[in-house]
Amino acid sequence: MGPVLIHNVFLLPMDGRGVVEDAQVLVRGAEILYAGPAASLPEGFSPALTIDGRGGVVMPGLVNCHTHAAMTLLRSYADDLPLMRWLTEAIWPLEDRMDGEDIYWGTLLACLEMIRGGVTTFADMYFFMDAAARAVERAGLRASLSRGLIGNGPAAEKGLAESRELVEKWHGAAGGRITVMLGPHAPYTCPPSYLARVIELSGELGVGIHIHVAETLGEMAEIKEKYGTTPVDLLLKTGLLERPVLAAHCVHAGPEDIAVLADKKVGVAHNPESNMKLGSGIAPVQDMLRAGVRVGLGTDGAASNNDQDLFGEMRSAAMLAKVAAMDPTVLPASRVLHMATAGGAAALGLSGTGVLAPGRKADLVLIDIHQPHLIPRHDLSGHLVYAARASDVALTMVDGRVLWMDGRFTTLDDEEIMARAGEKAARLAETSLK
Ligand code: NI
Repeated sequence: MGPVLIHNVFLLPMDGRGVVEDAQVLVRGAEILYAGPAASLPEGFSPALTIDGRGGVVMPGLVNCHTHAAMTLLRSYADDLPLMRWLTEAIWPLEDRMDGEDIYWGTLLACLEMIRGGVTTFADMYFFMDAAARAVERAGLRASLSRGLIGNGPAAEKGLAESRELVEKWHGAAGGRITVMLGPHAPYTCPPSYLARVIELSGELGVGIHIHVAETLGEMAEIKEKYGTTPVDLLLKTGLLERPVLAAHCVHAGPEDIAVLADKKVGVAHNPESNMKLGSGIAPVQDMLRAGVRVGLGTDGAASNNDQDLFGEMRSAAMLAKVAAMDPTVLPASRVLHMATAGGAAALGLSGTGVLAPGRKADLVLIDIHQPHLIPRHDLSGHLVYAARASDVALTMVDGRVLWMDGRFTTLDDEEIMARAGEKAARLAETSLK
């Protein structure tokens, strides 16, 4: 795509500047050339595409720090069940029947939803990740992919071998849009001896680690009984936190755990809606932020959420923190916006994105605020967190390439994907009943 000019917009660059009125954004190649007040175009800049933002808001694309994308096929397949029954009777039997084709179409369905809702980057942990990578490559999104690893049984060795293959084939692929992390599922499914091998492989391949940590009280009790400590402390003692780590949840992180997460520069993916729906608890987000932990927002898989909507997640994060503290001043809108963009990018270790400034990746969204629920314009941050919806996203761009504009997807055939994913999901549900 040639150079792009977006003008007549409010700009929320998330780089420390506040709202810039009457702004313009210039994109050349995959990068931002300029993001600031309207000015004459630089010499030699001749846009191939000029977009009139019509008074909308341009901000960095949203970062979904934790999901299992192909779980879109399990959306509303089993709601409102206790966690262990949900896993053992519904989710795992269905997942056992999934193949690469299911993962491909399920991931594409998630990509469709995320592009439509202004997500430009996501961190995914699942299986058949070669198929997931092919879906991401086609969709045009940025993603950090992990092959989920369970540390016992025959799958343990296979998972490590597949992780190595995934790194060798896809780390840095699709023009750098795809990166890979290792994905040990959790401290309670991966014993320390297995984590030691994950740590070693992570060092050898030069990639980070994506893991679920301290999600439920059941996990806290199990780790306490087996190892006499907390999941975060166990990971510290195994040496895992010496690697770049993305820790999903940390719902039950205590004050000492939080100090460790900050000290070791662990990225934390906060998933308020999944934590609420599964009854896991309330993560101490405010405490983590105060301690300097890098916190981003995630949706988790569509079986426990049930959407891939970061606008919903922003609102839930703010509301949940306030009701937990019984204090409306905690987690203000501007802080939540930061978590959903620059904070999320930092949690994933993707320093090139999450902020709109020269030299950064052109991963951005345009929000249409000419809508009844977004009038008047007292505070744009408040609007984006408390009133805007995923359906207000008018344009989604990744790496300087438009993926969604004028009500159309440019890389994906939405009708085909919805039909194919629906067929795949129906077949899985049917065979698992037999
Ligand atoms: Ni998860």
